[in-house]
Amino acid sequence: MKGRIVPANKEWIAEAGQMIRAGALVAFPTETVYGLGADATNGEAVARIFDAKGRPTFNPLIVHVLGLEQALIIGVFSPIARQLTEAFWPGPLTLVVSRVATSDVSDLVSAGLTTIALRSPDHPVARALLAEAHRPLAAPSANRSGHVSATRAEHVGEDIGDKAALILDGGQTFLGLESTVVSLVGDVPVLLRPGAVTAEAIEEVIGGRLARHEETGKRLTSPGQLASHYAPRAHLRLNAYDWQPDEAILAFGAIPQRPAHAFINLSESGDLVEAAANLFAALRALDASGAMSIAATPIPPNGLGEAINDRLRRAAAPRDQL
Ligand code: TXA
Ligand code: MG
Repeated sequence: MKGRIVPANKEWIAEAGQMIRAGALVAFPTETVYGLGADATNGEAVARIFDAKGRPTFNPLIVHVLGLEQALIIGVFSPIARQLTEAFWPGPLTLVVSRVATSDVSDLVSAGLTTIALRSPDHPVARALLAEAHRPLAAPSANRSGHVSATRAEHVGEDIGDKAALILDGGQTFLGLESTVVSLVGDVPVLLRPGAVTAEAIEEVIGGRLARHEETGKRLTSPGQLASHYAPRAHLRLNAYDWQPDEAILAFGAIPQRPAHAFINLSESGDLVEAAANLFAALRALDASGAMSIAATPIPPNGLGEAINDRLRRAAAPRDQL
């Protein structure tokens, strides 16, 4: 069943919607490129996206919604954000906004950030799938990390076909270029990624200039990375085999529960997908416990372990390096 390319007709879209609700990954066409989609409210399904992409880090993902009504449950829309959705949604414009604190979208989708990238795709198959799934869909471009984005179902099959339960074939995508990503969380709107909607078209709507992210003075290696990541207030100690009773413990696998200030096991069974799904919520909870130090037990470096360890190393680094 894995990687099966099927026609994007009514029956298969209904089947795909059920698979999404059951936690599977489904590749689908959007007007820009194919996306590899999962239920954005299911942390383990989202973790499987990172596994499928083969990304050594957790890059925040775009969440696809039908329109502003669904987006308002997940993100906070300023008047400018609303203006942009009126002008360009549905369409290839992704808006980065603050997350609604009570949203049930997984923390892993935005890699622990308090912001979220939202877009409403303008493709009949993507829209029908959103309607069938009754869920916001987390979906990055359906290619392995570092490869070019896929514009045909066959390309998805060749690149990550074994990772998707189903690939909905909607033919060639219309635009072939990813969506434009604009951040609306700072003082001024910032273009994080040029894409199918031009900066000029956006500037016309907002009635001013769109800052380029190189100009904002933040040291970002890629949009949404590093500088704005959640960093715990507590000191984080990695590869800990032992701990003090006043430390908060981030455990993985079969770790005996000795006295500690707080104790969370990311996955007692040693499942890296489960651990990735729990990572950001666990870090926040341990930090909120008030402990001065968080001790993390070793996490294997394979598969999603690479991204989890990368994230923990960043959280443990001195603050000025974040
Ligand atoms: O056209 C597209 O946008 C395609 C289709 C499938 O929708 N999707 C896509 O997703 O290109 P992806 O994951 O390959 O790129 C998402 C971009 C990345 O540059 C990521 O860093 C940025 O959006 N991003 C996502 N969430 C963010 C956030 N909270 N803050 C800043 N940047 C964010
Ligand atoms: Mg991509």
